[in-house]
Amino acid sequence: MFTTALAQRGKTEQGDLPLDLFTAIETLKKELNAVILAHYYQEPDIQDIADFIGDSLQLAKAAAHTNADVIVFAGVHFMAETAKILNPDKMVLLPDLNAGCSLADSCPKEEFGAFKAAHPDHLVVSYINCSADIKAMSDIICTSSNAVKIVQQIPKNQPIIFAPDKNLGRYVMEKTGRDLVLWEGSCVVHETFSEKKIVQLKIAYPQAEAIAHPECETTVLRHASFIGSTAALLKYCEQSSSQEFIVATEPGIIHQMQKRAPHKRFIPAPPLNNCACNECPFMRLNTLEKLYWAMKNRAPEITLQEFIREAALRPIQRMLEMSA
Ligand code: 13P
Ligand code: SF4
Repeated sequence: MFTTALAQRGKTEQGDLPLDLFTAIETLKKELNAVILAHYYQEPDIQDIADFIGDSLQLAKAAAHTNADVIVFAGVHFMAETAKILNPDKMVLLPDLNAGCSLADSCPKEEFGAFKAAHPDHLVVSYINCSADIKAMSDIICTSSNAVKIVQQIPKNQPIIFAPDKNLGRYVMEKTGRDLVLWEGSCVVHETFSEKKIVQLKIAYPQAEAIAHPECETTVLRHASFIGSTAALLKYCEQSSSQEFIVATEPGIIHQMQKRAPHKRFIPAPPLNNCACNECPFMRLNTLEKLYWAMKNRAPEITLQEFIREAALRPIQRMLEMSA
């Protein structure tokens, strides 16, 4: 079931790793009354040991409803932070605190504050891929799976700032016919896909359907027959009658696609150069070993100032109400 050879495990800076890491993590899970939540972009071993795997919205909902005392978040910082915002009394652990997000980093609070002040009559809709500070300055949070639905619910005469992803913002503009004021942020991973290479793949695999995450640029999205969040892409691959897919998002999702539809073929969309830059460098900082140490040491833990947490909670709750 698990894909990493246990024999590869050994000594680390923190001490000896147990020989059977999977059993050791299961034992710690019981000891801590912990739940492991993982995003689809995590490495296969982490996905396999998680109690729940999902896209950002599903993970936020899972965090909002868990009875566990400890949430081990196998994802990036803004996701673990969202879990903490929703659960101030629970311990939230992130295997590697450096697991950030280029989109969140592209929106510093001082600059965003000035941007917001320049548009005083605008409602702020922020993509969940942002810091707690930006959430605290927002009116409604959205994810890639509910952004269109949320913007559609806002009265037509209400001007809107959409931050921080300009590509998702443009996609929402196209889908809703609304004119949004966009913050110019983007994701390093989704901006790396090469239109030329996708077209070449479509020629090489004429039966394959190209599918894409809305964080991709318009030049990539225009070749996709389906656009959606990671959870939506997964569902689409399972239900479509096509047997081959060119997948323009982080290739971690292919592990679940292959599990759910083992007879189908999933081809990762190639990046511009012959690098591994279609893999999210932040998501991939988490490893099974770090997850074990996080549970063993009860660290690194996500902490937040209470006034920021309270301010960031309101727009998240609004999102959960609007996407129920
Ligand atoms: P999802 O909403 O599909 O989980 O997207 C999260 C993300 O970080 C995509 O890069
Ligand atoms: Fe952020 Fe992009 Fe990584 Fe998603 S894939 S976590 S948006 S850097």
